[in-house]
Amino acid sequence: MNFDAPIEKELERGIRVLDSACGPGPWTLEMCNQYPNSVFYAVDVVSTYETMVNNAKYNNCKFICADVLKTLPFPDNHFDYIHQQLIVFGVQAHSWPNLLRELLRVLKPGGWIELNEAPPNDIVNIGPKFSVLNKCTIAKGFRTSISRELEGYLVNCGAINIETRPVVIPLQHGGNFGETWYVVELVMELLPKNMNMVHHYRYSSNN
Ligand SMILES: C[S@@+](CC[C@H](N)C(=O)[O-])C[C@H]1O[C@@H](n2cnc3c(N)ncnc32)[C@H](O)[C@@H]1O
Repeated sequence: MNFDAPIEKELERGIRVLDSACGPGPWTLEMCNQYPNSVFYAVDVVSTYETMVNNAKYNNCKFICADVLKTLPFPDNHFDYIHQQLIVFGVQAHSWPNLLRELLRVLKPGGWIELNEAPPNDIVNIGPKFSVLNKCTIAKGFRTSISRELEGYLVNCGAINIETRPVVIPLQHGGNFGETWYVVELVMELLPKNMNMVHHYRYSSNN
């Protein structure tokens, strides 16, 4: 299932959805395919979605290059459902309240907003590679504990009926999850050598 909000029937009937910070667009494209009566808008500050979108050719989705930390190119009360996933490394701590206020501005009264975050601070038994990521996240002013704070931010912005559900993702395991995380690990292996931001955070073998 690609979502938690209780909107399956509405999606089947046909609603207007926003995927904020959509990345290359996998969530939007799967949802467009699954719910052809609904219309999906996806925004990201980088247009990495172009290749996937051009190949997919759905007519119920629109991808827009936009910065979600600025005013979104949509009127008030426009979307029935907003999805945002894994933007923790793009939003500095002080920007979260404005970002959520802007998302709520374009959400219809009674609409649903779903936020999924997995910051490194929440990883249990953190190893050396994730420690590096955690230190970089803090150094860059991002919020390592955002998943625990979103509820408070949403309350402050006037959202109601808020539900928080922790999801446990096994790392260093076999199967599909294990294979996915193996790719993440390979990327992290490259971090200390190739990214300026981690030069000060090389890990030693005993941390
Ligand atoms: C880890 S990716 C997640 C992509 C997608 N949500 C997913 O789960 O596959 C984070 C995305 O956030 C986008 N992003 C970061 N800051 C942004 C901003 N200010 N406005 C729009 N997109 C932003 C990045 O370009 C990147 O595509």
